[in-house]
Amino acid sequence: MTQIRLDFGNLMAPGVEGGVDATHFAGALSERFALAAAAVEQRRAAGDLGFLDLPYATESAAQVAALADGFGQWFEDVVVLGIGGSGLGATSLRDALLGPFWNSRSNEERDHFPRLHVVDNPDPHTLRALLGRIDPARTLFNVISKSGATAETMAQYLVIRDLVDKTVGPDKARGHFLFTTDPSRGALRQIGDAEGIPMLPVPENVGGRFSVLTAVGLLPAAVCGIDIEALLAGAAAMEVRCRSAVLAENPAGILATLLHGADTDQGRAIHVLMPYCDRLRSLALWFQQLWGESLGKALRLDGSHSPVGPTPLPALGASDQHSLLQLLMEGPQDKVVVFVTVDDPGPDLAIPNRHPEIPALAYLGGHSLGELLATERSATAEALRREGRPNATISLPEVSAFALGQLYMLLEVATVFAGALYGVDPLDQPGVELSKVLTYGLMGREGVARPEIAEPDPKWMV
Ligand code: PA5
Repeated sequence: MTQIRLDFGNLMAPGVEGGVDATHFAGALSERFALAAAAVEQRRAAGDLGFLDLPYATESAAQVAALADGFGQWFEDVVVLGIGGSGLGATSLRDALLGPFWNSRSNEERDHFPRLHVVDNPDPHTLRALLGRIDPARTLFNVISKSGATAETMAQYLVIRDLVDKTVGPDKARGHFLFTTDPSRGALRQIGDAEGIPMLPVPENVGGRFSVLTAVGLLPAAVCGIDIEALLAGAAAMEVRCRSAVLAENPAGILATLLHGADTDQGRAIHVLMPYCDRLRSLALWFQQLWGESLGKALRLDGSHSPVGPTPLPALGASDQHSLLQLLMEGPQDKVVVFVTVDDPGPDLAIPNRHPEIPALAYLGGHSLGELLATERSATAEALRREGRPNATISLPEVSAFALGQLYMLLEVATVFAGALYGVDPLDQPGVELSKVLTYGLMGREGVARPEIAEPDPKWMV
């Protein structure tokens, strides 16, 4: 069980031109971090940071595992209905740990675990296509909403509930649903209580984007055979590493402090997370939400209003070397790239030496695809370094539940440290409320006035 590593040499001088000086790191930045760490410790002591306790919540994990065991045997398909933090965790876990084409594999290839679909956007084409491919009588619908009221998720629940009622009858229908929601409040809990639908709680003090290690992510993972104990053990190992208030010892502290400093001291406000591994592509999307929604704020903790926040940009190596790399190498000096690489990618594919007479192909023969991907990551990091473009690399020993647990915890802790450094509350999201309220008003929700919406002006249309 090896640790994941953070190599931040390419953020430091003289490795990269304009990088952080060792004295600055040991001095001002360490002091800045110590203050942030103290603020985070206060919030932890106040009970606000429930995600830090999740690796040790063995009782609720055991409850999830027991429920998942029963469900996994009964259903061919599991459909998660959940958006934002209620969907991205399950998607990233599925893609990383079940691997490519899970849902296209045969029952035997899946070891008889169910297929796993995550439906977030209420696009009727997607849902219709999915419903045309599954048998509702052999499907479990895991409706995930912390608030129990999110329009996209609840609308999809209403559509599906009707369908399942019609397919299996209202009595049996409730056996096809599992709700994951607030322990005491919300419409979903109200329905679950009234109809005797099994429910799993999302702890009060864990918000959506920090909830991957609650039942929100653990249930869909466990039902498909992912080792959730190893996931939590990885998270625990990283949580311990991230307790230190000494910057040089704290991987999440280093990531947060250097990314925050890159933004506020050097104007590098675009933070690219670029795994060189297809299985980690969705993890970059999960990070996009975590970093963007947590840190993009107008209200500072001191009560002042001055918008801050980095822009996270998910990318994939090597594919995006053929789309974004030109911009990263020569575009404005407003970005930092954090690569994610995997030391042991697992079963590899050797590249045959089929054309020794053609130099453009001959050099590939005798290597492997995994080697090519890893080499491209190192070459890109070096190319950026030579151009004075700061970058860092997180290395996973392998794509395993233990490594993923570490990675989720590293990025979550880095986010709350970054919140303290930016002087914002990383746990709230007041900016998304207005569009929700306008949607409610336009869709006719009781008690919400129909809003005036600026009509498109034909003068500005072509
Ligand atoms: O991180 C968050 O809090 C949000 O992205 C929520 O996860 C998202 O809005 C969905 O909310 P809910 O789980 O209440 O349906």
